Amino acid sequence: MEKSEEDKTIAWGSWKNELVVRVFTGSRIVAIGPNDSKAVHRRLRLVEDLVVEELGSYRGYSDRRWAYLYIKNKSVAGCLFAERLAKAYAATDGENLDESRVQKALLGVQMVWVRKTFRSDHIATKLIDAARGHLIYGAVIPKGMVAFTPLTSSGAAFARKYIRESGNLLLYRPYSATSTRAASRKA
Ligand SMILES: CC(C)(COP(=O)(O)OP(=O)(O)OC[C@H]1O[C@@H](n2cnc3c(N)ncnc32)[C@H](O)[C@@H]1OP(=O)(O)O)[C@@H](O)C(=O)NCCC(=O)NCCS
Repeated sequence: MEKSEEDKTIAWGSWKNELVVRVFTGSRIVAIGPNDSKAVHRRLRLVEDLVVEELGSYRGYSDRRWAYLYIKNKSVAGCLFAERLAKAYAATDGENLDESRVQKALLGVQMVWVRKTFRSDHIATKLIDAARGHLIYGAVIPKGMVAFTPLTSSGAAFARKYIRESGNLLLYRPYSATSTRAASRKA
């Protein structure tokens, strides 16, 4: 369920040891991983809180999770929380997870979000493309091995467009999605 109709802004400068994984004219994608500083992760929580508020549901936490931020005009225009996977499940036509159809998957899209002002500008596409090229060192994860957490209606429309001819839409349950946010977060 999408909740908020507001277009929220989160300022984001650059920081020491910033890992830039893609550069475009006037914008860049940075990756934030488990070894980044607590200060960076505190700032990232503001972004995550905004996304969770808009989606109306929390989608879990993993120690191995990476975040990718699309920075434009010194603010966050979009973000992706992604994780390594081993398997996922084919989606039914109604976007449910079909437990009987297990498939290999390498990248899990836990949450992807783009600011309203910048939607349909291929920012979500660029974020997932960047993660596919970054998550496994020296390899590009094929589109057909990207899986999504249970999707919103706009998320499902996007995901089906994104994977296009690469195969079935794959879904997975994110690690520890059922735990509370307080328990899953580390200081
Ligand atoms: C879903 C979302 C991330 C898509 O971001 P985006 O940057 O606008 O997506 P893109 O521009 O990369 O879209 C890629 C393709 O999907 C299509 N698409 C994206 N959202 C769509 C929608 N709601 N309905 C139909 N098609 C859609 C685009 O038109 C584009 O098609 P094209 O390649 O033929 O031009 C964005 O709408 C969003 O943040 N929604 C709220 C959060 C959410 O629901 N996240 C998903 C669940 S985690």
